[in-house]
Parts: sequence; structure tokens; C-alpha cells
Amino acid sequence: MNNVKAIIPAAGFGTRFLPSTKTIPKELLPIIDKPSIHYIIEEGINSGIKDFVIITSKNKKNIEDYFDFYPELEDMLKTHKKEHLLSNISKIIKTANFLYIRQKEQLGLGHAIWTARKAFSKEHLAIFLPDDIITGTIPGMAQLIKVASQEKCNVIAVQEVSKEEVNRYGVIAIRRQFSPNLFQVKELIEKPPINKAPSNLAIIGRYVLSPNIFDSLENLKFGSGGEIQLTDGIQNLLLNGEKVFAYKIQGKRYDTGVPLGWLKTNIDFALKDPRYSKEIMKYLCELDKDILLMQGQTEALQKRKNIQTI
Ligand code: G1P
Repeated sequence: MNNVKAIIPAAGFGTRFLPSTKTIPKELLPIIDKPSIHYIIEEGINSGIKDFVIITSKNKKNIEDYFDFYPELEDMLKTHKKEHLLSNISKIIKTANFLYIRQKEQLGLGHAIWTARKAFSKEHLAIFLPDDIITGTIPGMAQLIKVASQEKCNVIAVQEVSKEEVNRYGVIAIRRQFSPNLFQVKELIEKPPINKAPSNLAIIGRYVLSPNIFDSLENLKFGSGGEIQLTDGIQNLLLNGEKVFAYKIQGKRYDTGVPLGWLKTNIDFALKDPRYSKEIMKYLCELDKDILLMQGQTEALQKRKNIQTI
């Protein structure tokens, strides 16, 4: 599949990271020393994508500046022989094309995608939800593009989640299972109540969709959470006779869209980074000792209290 353009919806307020996101776009919060959206673009480029449409809103101008040259800074670094500090981002700027489209009102993920309709003619959409960073041997989006080309259909990424978590995701009902990782979708439901979820296969932030999704999103009613939902648009594609497959991506998914997930991602990435792995491991071992000590003290204190109350 040659004709693929990426869409990255990055227009949300990022309320879970307030007050930081009052001025810093959530997508620029760092995982170690690179903004989270940097990892997304790398995955796109490594999946063979060159064109990136980023949906932005007020207060997101810094994303545009990040993916652009900065001559004064580059000259200064050159003088001090420190150009390597920008080498990662310079490569991206030289390789990829960026188009920014403003979503005037935040009416939901489906609406954000629909906002990009004029930037597409016949290309397929490779949608990346930037909260989800996926690591693994083969880039996540490359895996989806491969399935979409082979099966000539829409493909969404899914992963198994616990029963208690299904109401936080879009969930699929399976029509047919082709292999341990590949399914044909019968129905999609956005954030179903736990007792109404048709499976525990949750949609995660990667999709390859036909451009017909724009028509499917047109005139869609407000859905779950009072928002225009992409999941409902894909359900419309199904109702219009298009095939939708779900694929369990091979790799690890990090949810950087919530502070706890973002923290865990930083720890995991630091443990895997040769610059920091030794030190961070040492630090975690020290913490572990402190925690055991604290637990011991708490238990001892509790025992003493129990004895006093007898
Ligand atoms: C969005 C999608 C949902 C999907 C989830 C994955 O929800 O609407 O279908 O399961 O991303 O992270 P959000 O997390 O934006 O509420």
C-alpha cells in the first residue's frame, strides 16, 4: 500500500496533565529527552510514511516549531561542536512533510479526523493516537499497513484488556478469527458498560482506514461521552459494506496519556537506554530497599497498635 498519509490528532486540552498543559502541549511532554509525539513520527517514518497531517488547536503552536529548523540554535551548536544534540530531530525534519490543520472546536476524536478531509483525496489514512507509544521489532503501523495491503481492507489495532477495563476503550465484536492475531470485525462499541462489552479486545491507537471514513463521519450524531466518535464512524463503514479487520499488534503499548502511564514509560525507557540503564537500575534497587524498610516499619507499627488495643 503506497498511498498512505498519516493523521495525528493532537488538539485536545490534555487536562490530565494540568497545570503543565496550560502552556505545554501534552504531545511535547518528554519521554526521557524526546517529546512523546517524536516517537510517533519515528514509528510513521519507519513504517514508510512521509506525509503527516497533524490536527492542532489553540496553544499547540510549539508542535509546529518542534518539527522545523531553528537556525540560531543550530549555528550556536555548530560553533560548540554539539550538532549531535539535534541530530534525531533534524533527520525527521529532512525526511517528513508536515501539514497542520486547526480543529476549531474540540468535538471528539471522530470530529478531529473529519477536520482533515480536505487534505486527502484517495490516500488511505494511517491514524496514530499520540498517547499510545508502541515499541517492538516491527513498527506497529508497518504491521497494520501490511495486513491492510494483504487483505485489502480497513484494519484497527487491538489488544486484550482485563474485563474491568473494557469501559475505557472502543471494543470489538468478532465475526471471524483467522489466526491468533487476526480477526474480522462484526461490530464496534465505544466505551461499553462492563456487562455489555462484546469481548475484551480493545481498540488501541493505530488505524489504517479507507478515505470513505470521511463520509462515514459526516453527520454522525454525538456518541459516547457526548463526543463525535471515530469508533462510530468505523461502525458506519461496516454498515456501508466495507470490511474491517482487527489485528493484535506485536509489541508493547505504553499509554502516555495519563500521568501514571507517562511515569512508567519514562522508567521503562530509561531502563532500556544504555545512557541511563545502570544508574536507574541502581536507584530502583535502593528505592526497593527503602520501600521494604518502610513496609517493615509500617507492619511493626501496626502490630504494636494491635497489641495496645487488645
Ligand atoms: C480513544 C478511542 C477508543 C480507543 C482509545 C485507545 O479513546 O476513542 O476507541 O480504545 O482511544 O487509547 P480515548 O482514550 O481518547 O477516550
